[in-house]
Amino acid sequence: MTQDRAEALAAIAAQVKTCTKCDLYKGTTNAVPGAGNIYTDIMFIGEGPGFNEDKQGLPFVGRSGDYLNYLLNLIDLNRDQVFITNVVKHRPPDNRDPLPDEMIACKGYLDDQIELINPSVIATLGRFSMARYFPGAKISQIHGQPKYDDEKGRAYYPLFHPAAVLRNPGLRRDMEADIKRLLEVVEKVKTMRSSEAAPPKPKDDDKPSGPPKQLSLF
Ligand code: URA
Repeated sequence: MTQDRAEALAAIAAQVKTCTKCDLYKGTTNAVPGAGNIYTDIMFIGEGPGFNEDKQGLPFVGRSGDYLNYLLNLIDLNRDQVFITNVVKHRPPDNRDPLPDEMIACKGYLDDQIELINPSVIATLGRFSMARYFPGAKISQIHGQPKYDDEKGRAYYPLFHPAAVLRNPGLRRDMEADIKRLLEVVEKVKTMRSSEAAPPKPKDDDKPSGPPKQLSLF
């Protein structure tokens, strides 16, 4: 299973590298499938690669990445303990917003990465990844408020995009307070998952009614 997961994710990365499902690959240097720990509880999803990410083929390695590293450090984590990817895997020209068609073209890769890694928490960075789980919501109103999916055993945790915080230092306090609650969200989901794995408790109709009967000796 361990080998399967690594192999399956490597196969996705290989497909991303030769992907021509939309035009974004044109004029790029590298695709950026995602990087980090594939056995993690925490997956971060950003928007799309920027200039530095395109050069290196790795997510969040520019200024936004430095700030993301700083945020992880605040909660004693580093990049090797989380998985980081984006909604689109090739850099949009001039760092423009990804277009709906481009996000649709790339969706299968992200869906498969999520299914294979099966993180307890998906932390969205910015509005495009947030929109997958909180359609129509405003980041300024919902940042830092986890949404729990009991069936999947997962939480979605909307965060500002690090670049937005760098542009607007007034968001720093909220961003840093939000990241400091991330591990609580992880713990909550882990408890949720482990109680689901436990043998089912008897339903009310399975319980004997009235006081327990004394066992007869005869
Ligand atoms: N911004 C993103 O959304 N993703 C990256 O990988 C880098 C910057």
